[in-house]
Amino acid sequence: MGAARLSAPAKVNLFLRVLERRSDGYHELDTLFQAVDLCDELLVTRGGSDVLLSVEGADLGPAEDNLAVRAARAFLQRIGSPRDGVRIRLRKRVPAGAGLGGGSSDAAAVLRCLNTLWGRPLDRPVLAELGAALGSDVPFFLGDGPLARGRGRGELLQAQPPLPVRDLVLVLPPVEVATGPAYAALARHREANPVEAHAAAWPPGGLSGWNDVAERAVNDFEAVVPAAHPSVAASLEALRRAGASPALLSGSGAACFGVFPDEARARATAADLALSLGWAALHARTLAAFPEPEGVTGQAPRG
Ligand code: C5P
Repeated sequence: MGAARLSAPAKVNLFLRVLERRSDGYHELDTLFQAVDLCDELLVTRGGSDVLLSVEGADLGPAEDNLAVRAARAFLQRIGSPRDGVRIRLRKRVPAGAGLGGGSSDAAAVLRCLNTLWGRPLDRPVLAELGAALGSDVPFFLGDGPLARGRGRGELLQAQPPLPVRDLVLVLPPVEVATGPAYAALARHREANPVEAHAAAWPPGGLSGWNDVAERAVNDFEAVVPAAHPSVAASLEALRRAGASPALLSGSGAACFGVFPDEARARATAADLALSLGWAALHARTLAAFPEPEGVTGQAPRG
């Protein structure tokens, strides 16, 4: 097989607790990741002598900095074929700097496609280790399950039985929030307003349904990000007024999401909010399974 195609889904955090700062500068997290059906699309072709990236739908800056390219280089290095070539075509739908994990999901999709194309030289733990070195959210997207609790930097995962599929509204305020500065702002806020950070109270028998999710729905970044970005505050307020339960910031933002009881309510709310807020609001659904790579024949590498 010379080429593989894969959808790279976005994620939301159904809760996100930021715990103590570690000696390596990262914070311990307790979070619940849920993959959603807003996806980037990747076509990965084996051939040539370099890693080439073409992007449609967004300007992601220099290819060398792109996580998808870095994932391909890390894979080739790890299998001992650093001179092999790969072409990555990426159709971008998940916005960058949104807390939706788009870049991490693209990197995981590249690793999964390459492992398929090269005949699975790397087993799951090695792929997860490569992924974790690229970014804290990458291991989640490597596919143990579309609902997973993440501890550590988010890379220590416990897949959970999927919850019934739910309809969401994703609101995309017109600002990008950089992750590092958001953690720094939260640390400053906590110095000025000391509260004990704590992990989520996890139900002993696991999550039994969306009620358990709604009861734990907190994102610690809401202490600082909405105050710094009025469009985020307006998005959260609009989702809550429209009856979302829960309505939360995703990651360190700027995307916000709300869970709705049915598709009609979610679609109508997305249309209303796009008009009233003046920025993107989309209907989306939670995923019950991660997409799988699909082999593509007749794709000759170019360039
Ligand atoms: O994971 P990523 O490299 O995107 O994180 C960017 C920065 O955000 C880190 O350098 C660190 O300052 C901060 N961060 C953190 N704790 C985490 C994740 C990120 O403090 N769990």
